[in-house]
Formats: sequence, structure tokens, C-alpha cells
Amino acid sequence: MTIAGKAVLVTGANRGIGRALVDEALGRGAGRVYAGTRHPLTHPDGRVTPLMLDVTDAAQIQAAAGHVESLDVLINNAGIWLFDDLTDRAALERHLAVNLFGTWGVTQAFLPLLTRSKGTIVNNVSLMALAALPLTPAYSISKAAAFSLTQSLRALLAGRGVTVHAVLTGPVDTDMTRGFDIPKASAESVARAIFGGVENGEEDIFPDPMSASLADGWRHGVAKAFERQNAALAAAEPAAT
Ligand SMILES: NC(=O)c1ccc[n+]([C@@H]2O[C@H](COP(=O)([O-])OP(=O)(O)OC[C@H]3O[C@@H](n4cnc5c(N)ncnc54)[C@H](OP(=O)(O)O)[C@@H]3O)[C@@H](O)[C@H]2O)c1
Repeated sequence: MTIAGKAVLVTGANRGIGRALVDEALGRGAGRVYAGTRHPLTHPDGRVTPLMLDVTDAAQIQAAAGHVESLDVLINNAGIWLFDDLTDRAALERHLAVNLFGTWGVTQAFLPLLTRSKGTIVNNVSLMALAALPLTPAYSISKAAAFSLTQSLRALLAGRGVTVHAVLTGPVDTDMTRGFDIPKASAESVARAIFGGVENGEEDIFPDPMSASLADGWRHGVAKAFERQNAALAAAEPAAT
């Protein structure tokens, strides 16, 4: 798959990794980039179509889908990351609403277009999907759930020609990690690596130095082998109508 000439939609497109993904898609020659944001956006490149898209708002998701004629690549990038200590149910629900149900809802709404184009879904998950960071347990839970969603979508949609990628992102220098004095990759380098991984057909993309150090272990580990074993069971089932 190449990005040149394709229609790409990015959620959370106004800042951080999302904004870098928009610019990287344009740089790779995308024909149309739909920029999903919660507030009105203007962009100097005429190939960018802003879409009002709060991923927790079912009506906005439906309206956004109605504005898109065709779509090749959906990037579920919008996310929140808040501190909690697992004492507050509301904190868990807030994370699930955006990071899990937002990803699910947007994917369902655009699935008919992606099925038609035999397109690609890219979920910007997190390394915390693989191992929880107990400073942000609700976030970790939501990203583990989003990763599981990604794995199931991958197996369920393979027969329809839709490919599904997980991005297991490590620390990136955006508003989200502001104040953390740790090594961070730039949003631009991560956006480059995400599209590079998509173009190279990598199921799971490790787009920064920290995540890349775990890539081989993950790809050749027992969990990945077990995912493939389980996916084969789904492939053996007749496709749901
Ligand atoms: N930065 C990291 O170290 C890191 C590491 C691993 C994974 N990630 C993941 O990468 C993705 C992007 O993160 P980032 O670092 O670019 O974060 P960011 O700079 O905080 O940007 C988050 C983006 O998500 C949007 N968003 C939040 N809630 C939304 C909602 N309900 N509907 C639509 N958009 C919403 C924000 O829009 P507003 O401007 O309207 O708030 C913003 O555009 C997230 O999924 C994050 O979990 C980031």
C-alpha cells in the first residue's frame, strides 16, 4: 500500500502526533486528508478537508461519515492520558469513552467505505497496551482494550480485504507528555515511521526508539504466535453478514 493519491482520515488531527500525521500524509502525496478535530480547523493545503469529529459523539461521527465520499486509510489517533490511581470509576470511563469506544465508533462508521476501498485501519495505541504503567492505570487499561479491539478487527476484516495495524507508540514529545523529563521521539519522526510501517505492511508498528527496542521480541514472541493461532480460528468461521 502506498499513500500517494489515497484518501486518509486522521482523528485528533489538530495537534501532537495527529497534526504530524496530516503533514506526513500530505508529504507522501495523499490526494485527500480528512482532519478530524473537536474545534474548527483551517489548513493551508487545499487537499485537507476539516471534519468536526469528537470521537465520543455518535451524531458527529455519523455526520462526518456522511461528508466523506471515499476513504482508503483511517487513522484512529485521538486519545486522552490522565493520571489516576484506580479509585475513581469516572476516570476509567473517561479513558474508555475516548480511547476504546471512540476508536470503535469511528471504525464502525467508516467501515463501509473502507470495505469498498479494501482499505487500511491504523490504531494509535501505546506500548502501555502491552504493560501497564501503574501511574496511569486507567489509560493503560483503555489502551490494552484498544489493542485487543485492533487484534480482533484484524482477524475479522482480513476476509474483506481491510488491513488493520496497531501502533505501539512509546514516549513522544507532545502536550500529552509535557513535563515528563524522559527521552521522547518527535511527533514528526513518529508520523514518518507510522506511514513507513503501513507502506511496508507491518501489522504492529513500533515507531520510536523505545518501542523499536521491543519490536523483535514482540514479533517473535509467544503472544504474537498465540494471536495468529486465534486469528486462524476466526478465519475458519463463515464471515458475518
Ligand atoms: N505522546 C505520547 O507519548 C504517546 C505515547 C503513546 C501513545 N500515544 C497516543 O497517541 C495519540 C495522540 O497523542 P498525542 O501525544 O498527539 O496527544 P495530544 O498532543 O494530547 O493530542 C491528543 C489529540 O486527541 C484529541 N482528542 C482528545 N479527546 C478527543 C475526543 N473526544 N474527540 C476527538 N479528539 C480528541 C485532542 O483534541 P483537542 O485538542 O480537542 O483536545 C488532540 O488532537 C493518542 O491516542 C495517545 O494515546 C501518545
